Amino acid sequence: MNGKGGTGKSTLAALLVEYVCAKKGGSVLAIDADPNSNLPELLGVKDAPSIVGIVEDVQKHLDKLPSGITKDRFIEMKVQEAVSEEAKGFDLLTMGRPEGPGCYCYVNNLLRGIISKITKNYDLVIIDNAAGMEHISRRTMRRIDKLLLVSDYSVFGVRSAKKIYDLAREMGIDLGETYLVVNKLTGDIGALQLEVDASGLELGGAIPFDERLASLSVSGRSIFNLYDAALRSEVEAIFQKAMKSQVRETYGHRAGKGKI
Ligand SMILES: Nc1ncnc2c1ncn2[C@@H]1O[C@H](COP(=O)(O)OP(=O)(O)OP(=O)(O)O)[C@@H](O)[C@H]1O
Ligand SMILES: [Mg+2]
Repeated sequence: MNGKGGTGKSTLAALLVEYVCAKKGGSVLAIDADPNSNLPELLGVKDAPSIVGIVEDVQKHLDKLPSGITKDRFIEMKVQEAVSEEAKGFDLLTMGRPEGPGCYCYVNNLLRGIISKITKNYDLVIIDNAAGMEHISRRTMRRIDKLLLVSDYSVFGVRSAKKIYDLAREMGIDLGETYLVVNKLTGDIGALQLEVDASGLELGGAIPFDERLASLSVSGRSIFNLYDAALRSEVEAIFQKAMKSQVRETYGHRAGKGKI
């Protein structure tokens, strides 16, 4: 998930996790790549492991570093251990926020290394990115099978999505299919059609503004408290479209066994 700030990336990431879990669609790792994270809350997870937390812990106990192993490798092992404790049907890893001033280079680099190694253990990895272009410009992900660019109901959201897409291409990221998802519609999608057409992005779907989704952030409750058939079908249509070929690639060998 990527897109302008506040468009609904985390909400959509959480809905996708919930959708795949409900369909028993395979093993899922959700990564909150936003230092200012809220994906754990949306998924109803307290104390989600964070890369920063793990790094700080390892650094405090460097004397316990097993011999013949580098610090970064040890951190990767600790991350692997930490994520698989989640018993909700999905694993969750957050990036965390380093304390004090300084930049996120070290954590970003670790995140890149971890993503490239850990993802092969899962059928599906869903990454909720921070708003803007940092992870794209740093090439935190070298390969993105499905890029869902989330926009709000505005030309600015669509233009941001297009800029992010262009940057991803420019950065040489190995990009699979890309979909624009317009979220929080309070009117007809037709009003944005010219902008969508100009962007050249394929419209994956549109999600209406929904009071229940908005109220989740007021109450701090998780997405699992939301069971509404109408909203669910809007969201499912997007995921079915966007994930179709992914599902075929990933689960093709299990076709007919009730997997998505
Ligand atoms: N379809 C929707 N209808 C109503 N409210 C929504 C909808 N989708 C998301 N929201 C609300 O919009 C706000 C922003 O959503 P969210 O946190 O998912 O966006 P984000 O893109 O992840 O933001 P950030 O850039 O800060 O990470 C939240 O209050 C959320 O509840
Ligand atoms: Mg977010």
